[in-house]
Amino acid sequence: MRNQMKLFTGHANRDLAKRICDHLGVPLGDAQVEPFADGEVRIKVEEDVRGADVFVVQPTCPPVNDNLMQLVLLIDALRRASAERITAVIPYFGYARQDRKDEGRVPISAKYVANMITGAGAHRVLALDLHAAQLQGFFDIPVDHLYASPVLTRYFHRQKIEDLTVVAPDVGSSKLARGYAKRLGAGLAIVDKRRVSDSKTKVMHVIGEVKDRNVLILDDMISTAGSITEAAKVVHDLGAKSIILGATHPVLCGPAIERLDRAPVQQVVVTDSIPVPEDRRPKQLKVLSVARLLGEAILRIHHAESVSRLFEMDFED
Ligand code: R5P
Repeated sequence: MRNQMKLFTGHANRDLAKRICDHLGVPLGDAQVEPFADGEVRIKVEEDVRGADVFVVQPTCPPVNDNLMQLVLLIDALRRASAERITAVIPYFGYARQDRKDEGRVPISAKYVANMITGAGAHRVLALDLHAAQLQGFFDIPVDHLYASPVLTRYFHRQKIEDLTVVAPDVGSSKLARGYAKRLGAGLAIVDKRRVSDSKTKVMHVIGEVKDRNVLILDDMISTAGSITEAAKVVHDLGAKSIILGATHPVLCGPAIERLDRAPVQQVVVTDSIPVPEDRRPKQLKVLSVARLLGEAILRIHHAESVSRLFEMDFED
C-alpha cells in the first residue's frame, strides 16, 4: 500500500500551498511556524507523519533567509518525526544567481543552500524554472525541474497576438525566449545588456527586428526590474507597437514597482510561484497560477510516474 500523502508549508506562500491542496483534494498539514521574540523560528508539526510521503511547499523568496530557515527546520522536524519521504517543493529557489565563484573570496551560495536543504533531510526536490538548469546538479538527491511555460504559453496563445516577437532581455535568457518564440510561432530578438551594478543595467544592442512588432519580453524572474524595463525602453524607442512583459517569478524587490509602473508596457504577466501582496502590485499585473502544474507533479512523484510528461500537457490557469 502507498504511504499517505501529506503537504505542509511555512509562511512563504500559503495561498499557493492551499491552491495545490485544493487541486489534490488533501488538507494542508497542521504545523506551527512562528517566530520567537528574538527572531528565531519555532516549528511544531501538529499531526502524525510517521511513514507518510510528505511534500513541503516553500519558495525561498524574500524574506529569503527567513523562508529558507522555515523550509529546512520544517524538513528537520518531519524527518525526526519519521516521515518516510520528504520532498522539498521549491517554486522559487533563492540564492540561485550566486551559482559560481566568478571573483576571488566569494561563496558559491546556491551550492551551500542546496547542501542545507539536503542536509536537513530532504529526499527529493521539486523546483520550477530554476535560474540555470545546471543548479539541479548542486543537489545530490533527485530533482524534478518543472517549467512554467505550459501555463504562460497557453495564456499568450489565447491573446492571439499578431506580428509577435519574443524578446530576451539579455543573452542569458535567450534560450528561454527561443523556446517561447518557437511555441508561439513568433520571431525572436535578443537584447545585449551589461550589468552596471546589482540593480542597474545598460543596454548595448538589440539583435533582431522589433520595429512595428508586438513584443513579448520574457525572463525567468523580475527582481529589481532593471533588466526587463531597460529592455522595454529600448524596444519602445526602436518602434515596437506594443510591449508585454512576462516572467515566472515576481521577486519584485527594491525599485521594481516604480520601474514597472513607469515602463512603456501594456501588461506584466507573472505566476504565483511568489506571492505579490495587493499593495505591492504594479499596474497591469496579471498573475497566472502554477498550482495545478505543481499539484500534478506532486501526484506523479507520489505515484512514481513520469514528471516530464507534464511538459507536453496543457495547463488551465
Ligand atoms: C539574469 O540573469 C536574470 O535572468 C534576470 O534577468 C535578472 O536577474 C533580473 O534581475 P533584475 O530584475 O534585478 O534586473
